[in-house]
Amino acid sequence: MNPSITMGLSVTLFVMALLHSGAASMKSQAYFNKTGDLPCHFTNSENISLDKLVVFWQNQKKLVLYELFQGKENPDNVDPEYKGRTSLDQDNWTLRLHNVQIKDQGLYQCYVHHRKQPEGMVSIHQMSTDLSVLANFSQPEIMLISNGTENSDIINLTCSSAQGYPKPKKMFFLLKTVNSTIKHDDVMKIFQDNITELYNVSISLSFPVSPETNVSIFCVLQPEPTQTQLLSQPFNIDAKSPEPHRPFLDKTYMTAILLVLVLVILCLILKLYQTVKKKKKKQLGPSHECEAINVEGQENEQAKERVENCVPKKSDEAQHVVNILKIDSDLEVVMRSKETSSGFREKKHRPGPQEPF
Ligand SMILES: *[C@@H]1O[C@H](CO)[C@@H](O)[C@H](O)[C@H]1NC(C)=O
Ligand SMILES: *[C@@H]1O[C@H](CO)[C@@H](O)[C@H](O)[C@H]1NC(C)=O
Ligand SMILES: *[C@@H]1O[C@H](CO)[C@@H](O)[C@H](O)[C@H]1NC(C)=O
Ligand SMILES: *[C@@H]1O[C@H](CO)[C@@H](O)[C@H](O)[C@H]1NC(C)=O
Ligand SMILES: *[C@@H]1O[C@H](CO)[C@@H](O)[C@H](O)[C@H]1NC(C)=O
Ligand SMILES: *[C@@H]1O[C@H](CO)[C@@H](O)[C@H](O)[C@H]1NC(C)=O
Ligand SMILES: *[C@@H]1O[C@H](CO)[C@@H](O)[C@H](O)[C@H]1NC(C)=O
Ligand SMILES: *[C@@H]1O[C@H](CO)[C@@H](O)[C@H](O)[C@H]1NC(C)=O
Ligand SMILES: *[C@@H]1O[C@H](CO)[C@@H](O)[C@H](O)[C@H]1NC(C)=O
Ligand SMILES: *[C@@H]1O[C@H](CO)[C@@H](O)[C@H](O)[C@H]1NC(C)=O
Repeated sequence: MNPSITMGLSVTLFVMALLHSGAASMKSQAYFNKTGDLPCHFTNSENISLDKLVVFWQNQKKLVLYELFQGKENPDNVDPEYKGRTSLDQDNWTLRLHNVQIKDQGLYQCYVHHRKQPEGMVSIHQMSTDLSVLANFSQPEIMLISNGTENSDIINLTCSSAQGYPKPKKMFFLLKTVNSTIKHDDVMKIFQDNITELYNVSISLSFPVSPETNVSIFCVLQPEPTQTQLLSQPFNIDAKSPEPHRPFLDKTYMTAILLVLVLVILCLILKLYQTVKKKKKKQLGPSHECEAINVEGQENEQAKERVENCVPKKSDEAQHVVNILKIDSDLEVVMRSKETSSGFREKKHRPGPQEPF
C-alpha cells in the first residue's frame, strides 16, 4: 500500500473516518523486549468482505508495519524493521508488535480502506495509538565500597539498579536505628546504554558507623510517580562490629593462626637439629657405638616428648606458651653443651636436658 494514496483522501472522508472511529487516539503500554498492542478498534458494521478491505498500520515516519490486502498479509510494503515482528489479531483488529524496543515508542496509525469499484480506495476507519515502553528496574542493590578503617569509621556504600526505562524520579537511602529513620538523598548517577537505551542508576553514601547502635540501611528507587517503589535488601551494621561481613579477619583468629605457625616452625627447627646431630653421632668410632646408641635412645624419647608438646592442642593455648618456653630453654642447654664439649667423647656424656647442668 502506497501511503501517498492515503494523502489523496478528501477532507470529507477524513472527517467521516474520525466520526467512525469515535476516539481518535488511545494510549498503549508495552514492556521492553515483550509484545505491544496497536489496536484499530474497527467494527465492520457494514459487513464488507475482507476481499474489499485494505488494512494497514504505519509509524510516525509513515513506514508500514503490516498490511492486510484481500484478506491476506502483504509483506511487499512492510518496512524491514518490522518484518517478522508483527501478528494481527483479526477478532478485534489489534496488531501485536513483538520484541518491543525503546525506539518503538511513538504514534502509530491504523487505516482501513474500502476498495470500491468506481471510486477506488475510500478510507472508512482510522485510529492512532500512542505507544509507550517501560522496563522494570532491577531490585536496588547495596554494595560496600569501603568499610571503616582504624583511623576513620566512615564507610562508603553505593546502591545501584539496572536496565530500566524511563528515567526514574528519585533514589535515596534510609538509615534505620531503633529510634530513628534518616533519609539520605544524593545526586543520582544515570548511565544510558546507547544501544538498548535502558538506564542504569546509582547513588552513594558515606556515613560514620556508630559503634553503639545497630543500623539497617535500605535503598529506595522511585521509578515513575505512579509506579511502586523498589526496595533493596537491608544492609545491616551491627553494634560494635564495623565489618559485619568479615568475621574471619577477627584479631583473635589471626593471633591463633600466628601462634600455630610459630609452633610448627619451632618443631621443624628441632627436628632438623636432631637429624644433624644424628649424622655426627654416626661418625663416631665403632667401640663407642653402643654407648652412643644408648644415649641417643634416651634423647629420642625426650625428643618425642618435646614433639608431642609441640602438637597444638585446641584445649589450652596457655599450655602451648609454656611449652614453647620450655623448648627454647632446652635448645639453649643443648647448644651450650655443644660449645663447652672438647671432643666427641665428652659430647656423648653430656648431661641430658632434664638433668641440672
Ligand atoms: C529478550 O527476551 C529474550 C527471551 O524472551 C531473552 O533471551 C533476551 O535476552 C532478552 N533481551 C534483552 C535485551 O533483554
Ligand atoms: C484483542 O483480543 C485478544 C484476544 O483475542 C486480547 O488478548 C487483546 O487484549 C484484545 N485487544 C484489545 C485491544 O481489545
Ligand atoms: C452483518 O452480518 C451479521 C451476521 O454475520 C448480521 O447479523 C448483520 O445484520 C449484518 N449487518 C449488515 C449491516 O448487513
Ligand atoms: C514490572 O513490574 C510491574 C509492577 O511491579 C509488574 O506488574 C510487571 O509484571 C513487571 N513486568 C515485567 C516485564 O517484569
Ligand atoms: C575493610 O575492608 C577491606 C577489604 O575491603 C579490608 O582490607 C580492611 O582490612 C577492612 N578494614 C578493617 C578496619 O578491617
Ligand atoms: C568515601 O567517601 C568519601 C566522601 O565521599 C570520600 O572522601 C572517601 O575518599 C571515600 N573513601 C573511599 C575509600 O572510597
Ligand atoms: C535512641 O534511644 C536511646 C535510649 O533508648 C538513646 O540512648 C539514644 O541516644 C537514642 N538515639 C538516637 C539517635 O536518638
Ligand atoms: C548496566 O547494568 C548492566 C547490568 O548490571 C550492565 O551489564 C551494563 O553494562 C550496565 N550499563 C551501563 C551503561 O552502565
Ligand atoms: C556506545 O558507546 C560506546 C562507548 O561509550 C562506543 O564505543 C560505541 O561505539 C557506542 N555505540 C553506538 C552504537 O553508538
Ligand atoms: C544489635 O542487634 C543484635 C542482633 O542482631 C542484638 O543482639 C544486639 O543486642 C543489638 N544491639 C543494640 C545496641 O541494639
